[in-house]
Amino acid sequence: MARAFGKVILLGEHSVVYGHPAIAAALDRGVTASGTTSLADDAVDELLVAPWAVRTQPDAALDGAPSLGRAFAAVLASYASERPRVRVEAEVAIPGGSGLGCSAALGVAVVRAIDEALGETRSVDDDIARSLLWERVFHGQPSGVDNAMAAAGGLALFVKGAPLLPLLARRALHLVVGDSGEASTTKSMVDSVARQHAQVPEKTRQTFEAIAAIVRNGKLAIEGGDLRGLGQLMNMNQWLLAGLMLSTPKLEDMCGAARDAGALGAKLTGGGGGGCMIALCADAAAAERVSAAVGAVARDAFIVVAGASR
Ligand code: MEV
Repeated sequence: MARAFGKVILLGEHSVVYGHPAIAAALDRGVTASGTTSLADDAVDELLVAPWAVRTQPDAALDGAPSLGRAFAAVLASYASERPRVRVEAEVAIPGGSGLGCSAALGVAVVRAIDEALGETRSVDDDIARSLLWERVFHGQPSGVDNAMAAAGGLALFVKGAPLLPLLARRALHLVVGDSGEASTTKSMVDSVARQHAQVPEKTRQTFEAIAAIVRNGKLAIEGGDLRGLGQLMNMNQWLLAGLMLSTPKLEDMCGAARDAGALGAKLTGGGGGGCMIALCADAAAAERVSAAVGAVARDAFIVVAGASR
């Protein structure tokens, strides 16, 4: 069975598309997939995504709306054409369009299931490279953070084009994830930031620089176990993301509810414009209280623990 992780971005979404660093943590939930092969004359490549009732064949069209069929075709094109046909069945355990890296996790799980079915063994770096072909169908110019985390897991600092730098957290990061229930596409939010970047380049550049400084300090806070400092950095990151018009009233309500319930910091995570927020909590008991408060305004709230060590 092939597996891939969902993820949350602790700090640095959007500016990461422009070459700045981001810090992300894998979720223990994600996507599983399995593949089978057939040499029968009438066999076709096929992808089934159970929870969405999707059954599709590769669609090699180069334009038109992004679709699972086009993403499947993009990935299959990286394999030898003389091969058995593959049938991949995927199970998705994270909501789509919510900033938790669902499409990247599906892409990684699909390439791993194809490899398993064909008896090919590949490195994590290879999985990251090939799942980027899948991500490009949906997101145009993804930074690559989502599929890198989906493949590698853990807690890491990511810079576009560079290997993931795993981080050791001095203290466990108890996070509450709240799902606003408002769907949003990463592509539309990345496009919106690109328009702002074109229209007001200096202001946008300064915002990215400020977020990059927050990420650099966030790395030190994580490694030093300074949860209070990390929480403040998350709040600052949220204000800068809101300045890029990526937040929504619902996300603000959820972040406010989390802070009022004692969270050390809260922010949207992923593309924004809807989707999910995260709140950092001092310990497991605080996370229970914050989860209840966020759950009262969110569609769903759950607790994850990211990267404890030492
Ligand atoms: C999406 O999870 C993160 C973004 O920064 C897009 C990207 O990095 O490709 C918004």
